[in-house]
Amino acid sequence: MLKIAGISFTSPFILAPLAGYTDLPFRLLCREYGAGLTVSEMISCHGLVYAQKKTHKMLASTLADKPVSFQLFGADPEIMAEATSLLNEFEPTLIDINMGCPVRKVTKRGAGSALMKDIHLAEKILRAVCSKAKVPVTVKTRAGIDSNTTTALEFTRMCQDSGASAITIHGRTWAQGFSGTADWDIIQKAKEIARIPVIGNGDIVTYDMGIARMEETGCDGVMVGRGALGNPWVFDKAGRPETFNDIIPAVKRHLILMEKHLDTKRQLAYIRNHTGRYFTEFAGSSHIRQNIHAAESFLELRKYIDAL
Ligand SMILES: Cc1cc2nc3c(=O)[nH]c(=O)nc-3n(C[C@H](O)[C@H](O)[C@H](O)COP(=O)(O)O)c2cc1C
Repeated sequence: MLKIAGISFTSPFILAPLAGYTDLPFRLLCREYGAGLTVSEMISCHGLVYAQKKTHKMLASTLADKPVSFQLFGADPEIMAEATSLLNEFEPTLIDINMGCPVRKVTKRGAGSALMKDIHLAEKILRAVCSKAKVPVTVKTRAGIDSNTTTALEFTRMCQDSGASAITIHGRTWAQGFSGTADWDIIQKAKEIARIPVIGNGDIVTYDMGIARMEETGCDGVMVGRGALGNPWVFDKAGRPETFNDIIPAVKRHLILMEKHLDTKRQLAYIRNHTGRYFTEFAGSSHIRQNIHAAESFLELRKYIDAL
């Protein structure tokens, strides 16, 4: 059983933070399909401190959303500490710090992956967040900067010595971005030296693959990102249904959750994107995706799915 700082989770399968995707309805859906923990989209510490409307929207949560981790990103220890004090009010189960995002918008300010180049700053940020957090703090990082500069082991040691309650390692380097394959050997090595739980991440697309990764590496949990899009069954032991008809109930459930928690008028493009992802591997699915993307209103989209 996955346990982080004394908190037990019903499953070691975790929904990864995915900017633009892991909002409240998708987190709730993945929870219903078995995810033991879900992680919000990355939240800017500046956005929190300056009370930006968009940032506050990202903090929407409900009781059914628990346990949930809210992920913060930033490069200034003081602002990260201030943002943590504000984040406490939203009562997440855990607070995660992003030390792995390779997107230029994030790294050019010294946050995300750029912190792998400055472990002292990373440590200061972690200590600052821990000093204010009312819940356990975790860190998500990558294997390293590039194939010559692995940082995962150094970061594992630094994190456990500086107050983190768990570490997630995405087995790709900053240089790789999202291409190539994840290196699970480095995750195994991190597990061998860690006193805190190690969560492995990278390229898991089925439940069985997640189990195999935990068995091979000994890691305490696995995090699934892209493999969960249009595929909440990745969290379910029974796996993804084989027939088209068995896929539909999940799509309908996702639409119900989106209708309940989103502004369906303003977020139609987003809703169409998520919905289209369920239809990728069936005969005639490109036609279905075209129709989803042609829907001019949420009601039209829902009626179309209901009639499938
Ligand atoms: C569209 C997209 C958005 C992402 N957003 C975040 C994020 O907000 N925070 C973060 O730590 N990682 C983010 N990631 C990285 C994922 O959490 C994960 O580490 C990565 O996709 C590898 O896992 P996977 O192979 O299961 O997708 C993002 C990845 C993608 C593809």
